[in-house]
Amino acid sequence: MTTRRAKISGAGFYVPERVVTNQELEALMDTTDEWIQQRSGIKERRYVSPGETPADLGQHACERALQSAGLDPQDVDMILLATLSAQHEFPGTSFFVQRRLGLEDTPCMDLRAQCTGFLYALTTANSLVRAGQYDRVLVVGCEVHSTGIDLTTEGRDVAVLFGDGAGAVVVEANEDDSDPGEIIECRLHAQGEHAKRLWIEFPSSAHQPTRIDQEAVLAKKHFPRMEGRFVFKHAVTRMPEVLQQTLSSASLKMEDVDLFLFHQANLRINEYVAGQLGIPPEKCFSNIERYGNCSAGSIPILLAEASERGLVGPGSLVCMTGFGSGFSWGSAVVRL
Ligand code: ACO
Repeated sequence: MTTRRAKISGAGFYVPERVVTNQELEALMDTTDEWIQQRSGIKERRYVSPGETPADLGQHACERALQSAGLDPQDVDMILLATLSAQHEFPGTSFFVQRRLGLEDTPCMDLRAQCTGFLYALTTANSLVRAGQYDRVLVVGCEVHSTGIDLTTEGRDVAVLFGDGAGAVVVEANEDDSDPGEIIECRLHAQGEHAKRLWIEFPSSAHQPTRIDQEAVLAKKHFPRMEGRFVFKHAVTRMPEVLQQTLSSASLKMEDVDLFLFHQANLRINEYVAGQLGIPPEKCFSNIERYGNCSAGSIPILLAEASERGLVGPGSLVCMTGFGSGFSWGSAVVRL
């Protein structure tokens, strides 16, 4: 008897139309195009326009993923949305996306694992489908960072890195022995010890008597804060570690992989990781220069764009690896 497998049957992405170049940021804060490009590889990113919401981005990404899988929203059994920039405190952004997709009672939930959020959601969807709970799960990574960053010199270390965007995949049961499509292996890790090294402190339900007050806002504690070098050091250690662990559990070798997709936090991190593992540049695909860091959206955007460009297709072996706030990190190897 063959075990029930799950595969990625479609991918789609959406980024807002508004392009924000490094030169535009130079007008808002003390930074330079040269500094941003040299440290991160980013040339421009996308920001939402007034009135555009996370659910808008999520909806478009989902519609494109469904289209590429040849499915309608009604075919979906569940929506799993990873984000660190929820549209509201509650309910989750997934509920707004569900409504936008015209669905009435399809279960949905948000998952919070920051830049590793998509890999956490993909792992969860894989388990739900393999277990037979659902046949088709829509997995979305969706972020609007531009409304939550400090676009002044004080916030420049973080602000220049982030962009808005969403990516989605359909995770579907595969019971056809002749179809090699499979989410082969997923590995996840976390280290709460470093939770405050990259975080947004407010609003906080641990703060009394109210979750946010003027003092917190004046101290800009509602903006993300990051110990950049500390995060960098951990990212370049944990990413190669988990990638090798994942391939080895799947009895696969580095050479078997057709394309490596790394979370798009910093091109230098990814170049360092690829260098450590001896991965040739032509086996990595990046879009950070155009979109910046879209956190949970980055990996599915990358996968969807790579498919659109014909860099991967049915039968390709793809390895996705990410690291982010939490700290959280993980890797997944899939046969498309
Ligand atoms: N423009 C110009 N100068 C800047 C800027 C900027 N935007 N930001 C910081 N600087 C200055 C600093 O003030 C500092 O000046 P000083 O030497 O006079 O004090 C100098 O540049 C160097 O700053 P560092 O922070 O040490 O720069 P570094 O080389 O470490 O690069 C960066 C910073 C790009 C943020 C890097 O540390 C990094 O990429 N870290 C990891 C990010 C990451 O992986 N995040 C995880 C995913 S995100 C998530 O999960 C939400």
